[in-house]
Amino acid sequence: MPPRSWGWWTEQKLDILGDYLAAFNKASTTAGTTIYLDLFAGQAQNISRSRTEHLIRGSARRALETRPPFTVLRFFELESQAAGLKAALEAEYPDSRDRFKVVPGDCNMTIAAVLAELADLNWAPTFAFLDQQSTEVQWSTLQQLARHKREDKWKTELWLLCASGLLPRGLRLRTEAIDNTTADRMTAMFGTDVWTEALHATRAGELSSADFRSELTNLMRWRLEQALSYRTTLVFKVTNTNGSEIFDMSFATDHWAGEKIMKDVYSAAERRQPALRLKAQLQRRQAREESQGRYGMFDLDEFAPDKPDATLFEVKPEHVPPHPPYRRRGRLNGN
Ligand SMILES: C[S@@+](CC[C@H](N)C(=O)[O-])C[C@H]1O[C@@H](n2cnc3c(N)ncnc32)[C@H](O)[C@@H]1O
Repeated sequence: MPPRSWGWWTEQKLDILGDYLAAFNKASTTAGTTIYLDLFAGQAQNISRSRTEHLIRGSARRALETRPPFTVLRFFELESQAAGLKAALEAEYPDSRDRFKVVPGDCNMTIAAVLAELADLNWAPTFAFLDQQSTEVQWSTLQQLARHKREDKWKTELWLLCASGLLPRGLRLRTEAIDNTTADRMTAMFGTDVWTEALHATRAGELSSADFRSELTNLMRWRLEQALSYRTTLVFKVTNTNGSEIFDMSFATDHWAGEKIMKDVYSAAERRQPALRLKAQLQRRQAREESQGRYGMFDLDEFAPDKPDATLFEVKPEHVPPHPPYRRRGRLNGN
């Protein structure tokens, strides 16, 4: 399979991950042991869309390179990708072979055995990254992660991608019959079908598509806080200039330090983004010109000014608490 190609916002997400992981391990120094679980670890190599020769360092590499280091790392990946990922990581990080394992198969099926293997370490600070493409993760997996730690310890921290901008398209919201396969997967991911109330309201014109997307993001946070008892969730939304959401990242923690660090990391990412976005635009233009045989004297990278311009995408941290899920008139709110 050719390497996957991504936009600048993926690099932004991975930069946030890298920053958070370093701070997580630093804050956990006294524990002496920290655990990283990557439920959608990715393929051996990824390439930026903005410049073809630019390789993106994916989540597995960023976690392996985190300093201070993680003691234990587990990378979950589908059978078809797992062997390639394992071979690449073993070749690149020969000294880390004792620290990490690639777990082949559907993470929803393999998570129980991995958590059982790590049961003796259920006191150690643990972070799980859930970088799904759409609705691959199942609620039971989130539940198992949330329940993994010993009762007197902070819960496993979760950082979950919710493709709220893509899901309405996947559902075929505007067509006569929605796509039931996507709908069933969404119910399995949220662990409830309460989201279908917002779906019916949107189809009836009572909610806008933007409201529907917000309801999906809100529901995931609501469920993490209410059903899994996380003290705090923080969301980081990636939207285009029309305000349409592409995806968001929900962070769940019980720990005040986790909340503070992630807020700081989200804010730093927000400040970095105009320059990153502009750089991606310039790189794309340079690649286009080079493909037409026109070469400049300088690398455009060196000229990326540090000011926002021609906004294409926007990343907004949202720190307001989630609200009860949307219910159509005459019904009670609940989990
Ligand atoms: C968005 S990519 C992850 C990218 C990765 N985090 C990185 O930074 O390179 C999602 C990955 O999840 C894998 N995947 C999809 N469904 C899965 C499942 N049920 N269990 C484990 N991995 C899965 C896909 O093969 C794909 O490589």
